[in-house]
Amino acid sequence: MAAKFSVKTTSSFFLVLCLTVILFFTLSCFSADPDPLQDICVADLSSPIRVNGYPCKPESQVTTNDFFFSGLRNGASTANPLGFGVRRANASTFPGLYTQGVSVNRVDLARGGTNAIHVHPRASESNLVIKGKVLFGFVTTANVLYYKVLKAGETSIIPRGLVHFAANVGSKNVAYLSAFNSVLPGVSPIPDNLFASTPTIPNYILAKNFRVDEKVIALIKSKFGLDISLSPATWEDI
Ligand SMILES: *[C@@H]1O[C@H](CO)[C@@H](O)[C@H](O)[C@H]1NC(C)=O
Repeated sequence: MAAKFSVKTTSSFFLVLCLTVILFFTLSCFSADPDPLQDICVADLSSPIRVNGYPCKPESQVTTNDFFFSGLRNGASTANPLGFGVRRANASTFPGLYTQGVSVNRVDLARGGTNAIHVHPRASESNLVIKGKVLFGFVTTANVLYYKVLKAGETSIIPRGLVHFAANVGSKNVAYLSAFNSVLPGVSPIPDNLFASTPTIPNYILAKNFRVDEKVIALIKSKFGLDISLSPATWEDI
């Protein structure tokens, strides 16, 4: 009897603890990726086998270099319409972090540059500003926007799966690091998902959603380089 009672008390204590952690840190009690079952698992990217991820390289073939990565020393080019560059240290580029449940991106933003509105379906994100002034914002499922401008050395958290963005609001270039609690956080760029999918979402559906005329949707799609004359016809047969 006493043993049963104490088990119950312990589990409800744990539940309360979990809920408290969720409330105060907006992070789940459970990590985003499965726990590792081995000390190391350097992803074998060359293997054709995929079982919810990559197989591990045989330990006899693992080297020191598998665990060190200098790919974030320099930023990616920001010479594009968004003024945005990203380099990723994830399971695909840095196989040594595989199964450890973490990965890191380096984001560079030119003056006036923006990290497009997007979602990471599999990870929470923590940002550390290295240089410049960055506006970070995310929107909750209840449609509340939280945003703030951060300077070098300051940090933000983006709760898992929420719509978010970043913008360079200073007069210099920006660099920041984004750490994720997943080796493959994934990214869904909202503008591309909505206006440049393959095949494209029918204009009348987007027009209803955005409460505008279909011509406005066609104009937006044309900005993504889509052949707008083809897209409605593609859907006529449905
Ligand atoms: C991992 O990084 C590569 C290189 O930047 C990128 O192409 C890929 O989409 C990333 N994978 C995930 C799941 O985040």
